[in-house]
Amino acid sequence: MNSFDMVVIGAGPAGYVCAIRAAQLGMSVCLIDKRADLGGTCLNVGCIPSKALLESSHHFHMAQHGLAAHGITVQGASLNLPAMLGRKDAVVKQLTGGIGALMKKNKITVKTGWGKLVAAGQVEVDGELVEAKHIVIAAGSTPIELPFATFNHTTILDSTDCLSLPAVPAHLAVIGAGVIGLEMGSIWARLGSKVTVLDVAERPVAIMDEDLGREAQKLFTKQGMAFSLGAKVSGVEVTKTGVAIAYTDAAGVATTLQADKVLVAVGRKANTAGMGLVEAGVTLTARGVIETDAKYQTSLPNVYAIGDCIAGPMLAHKGEEEGVALAEMLAGQHGHVNYNAIPWVVYTHPELAGVGLTEAEATAKYGDVKVGKFRFAANGRAIAVDATEGFVKVIAHAQTDELLGVHIIGHNASEMIGEAACLIEFKASAEDLARCVHAHPTLSEAVKEAALASQGRALHS
Ligand code: NAI
Repeated sequence: MNSFDMVVIGAGPAGYVCAIRAAQLGMSVCLIDKRADLGGTCLNVGCIPSKALLESSHHFHMAQHGLAAHGITVQGASLNLPAMLGRKDAVVKQLTGGIGALMKKNKITVKTGWGKLVAAGQVEVDGELVEAKHIVIAAGSTPIELPFATFNHTTILDSTDCLSLPAVPAHLAVIGAGVIGLEMGSIWARLGSKVTVLDVAERPVAIMDEDLGREAQKLFTKQGMAFSLGAKVSGVEVTKTGVAIAYTDAAGVATTLQADKVLVAVGRKANTAGMGLVEAGVTLTARGVIETDAKYQTSLPNVYAIGDCIAGPMLAHKGEEEGVALAEMLAGQHGHVNYNAIPWVVYTHPELAGVGLTEAEATAKYGDVKVGKFRFAANGRAIAVDATEGFVKVIAHAQTDELLGVHIIGHNASEMIGEAACLIEFKASAEDLARCVHAHPTLSEAVKEAALASQGRALHS
């Protein structure tokens, strides 16, 4: 019984979701992963453990600095780091165990081991041959290493290391003010580290709407993080006391930053090596990801690829949707992913979230656009819960009023971006959003108000 309708290599969100959907559609499925704990990077060393630590560190910060305004005095709040990390590990264990249970429920065969493509239709798992009609590569991604800063996992860290530091570093430097740099920087800054973030770009999270990046820089600087933007890092040296980072700042001045540890978070690269892909005839793009057509087929017939190892944003939910779409297409249905409606979230405090086009992208594509903005400082619920930082920005087509993009920096932005993603998916207009009834008092009223503002008629500002 080593023959299946589908074999999936990689049990991250792309792979295990594809496996479930294929099983739902009647296929026999085998899921292969090198880890016995399913869920890939997302569950084991990515989205989930980082969110657990972001929440815990936020509570610690609130106990120390945020509760006095509510009339609550906390004396002697102290950190039990092993307990905090233990909770994070328990969260991961619960969820990876949950994926195992889902595999059983869907009668998916799980094999733990290193999967290698032998040829179209054949995969080898630690020496065992498995045959399949369809092979899906969902091998994920790993952190990019800078040539002058080899990860030693004690002072030169990747994101995984940052989820389990044995003690709070006095000074944590971060190279890369992207999603990981801001989330990890926030965790350790709240737990007491001095955090200095270096980035070659002119603003943090340059991929998101410019206004969000600028506001984030302002707010995180207020929280105590230091930023050196436009910085060209040229070397990282391990010293007796930590690390020395050589860089040229935006003004062209050569500088050395001393820190205890440095997190390198300059992006991730697709996992393509060691799986026999190229040898079997799978083509990679010039950017090193697996080349696929619109139906996720690689250059080899009946071999498909989804998730971080193909083009597009490296986001768990993007991979999941590709997994569902692929399984449905292979079952003769019409699977589809709308790449214009994929939300982005940075889980800092406040959170950053966006979907659709940024203002710069919308302007480049359509010329004039309508932009409406509404600050949480004018939202009743935000004032009541003390979450007045940030704003919502709505971008609409100047003539048709089609909702092109929604960008939020604010408390619980990750939950509010959902309605915007739905409306963009349904090609709603900004007026549609403005006319939807939003419960009062909620933070989401700011989304409605920003849509009203794009029509020139915000009610509360
Ligand atoms: P990123 O692409 O978000 O940010 C990398 C940053 O490093 C950029 O700002 C870039 O300008 C900077 N950079 C690149 N080379 C540099 C150099 N030599 N010196 C200084 N700065 C340099 O990548 P990040 O944060 O590593 O995350 C990787 C991916 O993981 C993200 O793109 C995202 O798809 C995914 N992810 C998503 C999360 C979420 O959805 N909340 C959380 C964590 C990761």
